[in-house]
Amino acid sequence: MTRLADNFRRAGFTPEVTSFRDVDPSADLQGVPVLYTSSEDTGLEYKSWIEDLVLALETSGARTLPGYRFLRAHHNKVMMEALRTQLFPKEAAELHTRSFGTFEELATATALDGRWPKVIKASAGAGSLNVALVHNRADLLRAARQISRTRNPHETLREHGKRILRRGRHYANSLHRQKFIVQDLISGLTGDFKVLRFGDRYYTLWRQNRPGDFRASGSGIFDYHSTAGVDRAALLDYAEQVSETLGTPTASLDVGFDGRRFHLIEFQCLHFGTVTAERSTHYYTRSDGSWRQVADRCDIEAVFCDAIVQYLNRRPA
Ligand SMILES: Nc1ncnc2c1ncn2[C@@H]1O[C@H](COP(=O)(O)OP(=O)(O)O)[C@@H](O)[C@H]1O
Ligand SMILES: [Mg+2]
Repeated sequence: MTRLADNFRRAGFTPEVTSFRDVDPSADLQGVPVLYTSSEDTGLEYKSWIEDLVLALETSGARTLPGYRFLRAHHNKVMMEALRTQLFPKEAAELHTRSFGTFEELATATALDGRWPKVIKASAGAGSLNVALVHNRADLLRAARQISRTRNPHETLREHGKRILRRGRHYANSLHRQKFIVQDLISGLTGDFKVLRFGDRYYTLWRQNRPGDFRASGSGIFDYHSTAGVDRAALLDYAEQVSETLGTPTASLDVGFDGRRFHLIEFQCLHFGTVTAERSTHYYTRSDGSWRQVADRCDIEAVFCDAIVQYLNRRPA
């Protein structure tokens, strides 16, 4: 935090560091840029507190970086997919993504649009945890039952007790309330790219699928130099276009290439892993219309600070 603050001071800003505990939602912060970060705590309890405060800051006029909706979409595939359908409607339409709040809502839903196989994902997951391929409806229901299970033994016991003791009088509460999404499988991917954008700087990492699997995230088969035969300039063009539409100073994109075109698999605009940048020996930047590779050992605080400063200079409040 001190190193970050030092970087901002050097760039001519006077940063004030506050803990969430001391945030005053009644302060006059009209137009004041507020940087913050998120949390991925189990159950997202602490994150929900951050969400309350950041939304309060935003409603009081602060310039939250990134906007609240991106915080809400962090570690939350339901919101991320909802934002995607608004920001990238054409591409999103091809995935036929649906979200469900309970297993029962899926079980009683009419037939899903789109093609099989499909992919089911727990809303809060990373490293391909709780991302599964399903070939038909029976498969999907089995996976959804498992992914959505509310893990609270006390509540489960009480609910089962009520269902037996108050038969006919008890309106059953779902014990499968962990939200999840279902979407079409993008076929033809042998892996995906992690592309990080910090202002003008882009970093790429090729991640190969686990052997015999459709999932790349968390596979550990990574390459910072090769693009597995994919045209790097085209990948960067795509990443630039996506991140410009997101309109945030920083972004982490999972991008697939099916042999013909690129697909956005996931995006995050805060609190994402930065190893792709930190382990890189170079970054890419647009210069005179084309992409230039710049040799650089990434100093992540400096790079982050630059991204924010560029953003504020380009988009004054
Ligand atoms: N719709 C899809 N079609 C094909 N592959 C997918 C799809 N969604 C995810 N994947 C694969 O699964 C991996 C994990 O999915 P992702 O949504 O990025 O979740 P995580 O948060 O676990 O990274 C991705 O890296 C990608 O390889
Ligand atoms: Mg991912």
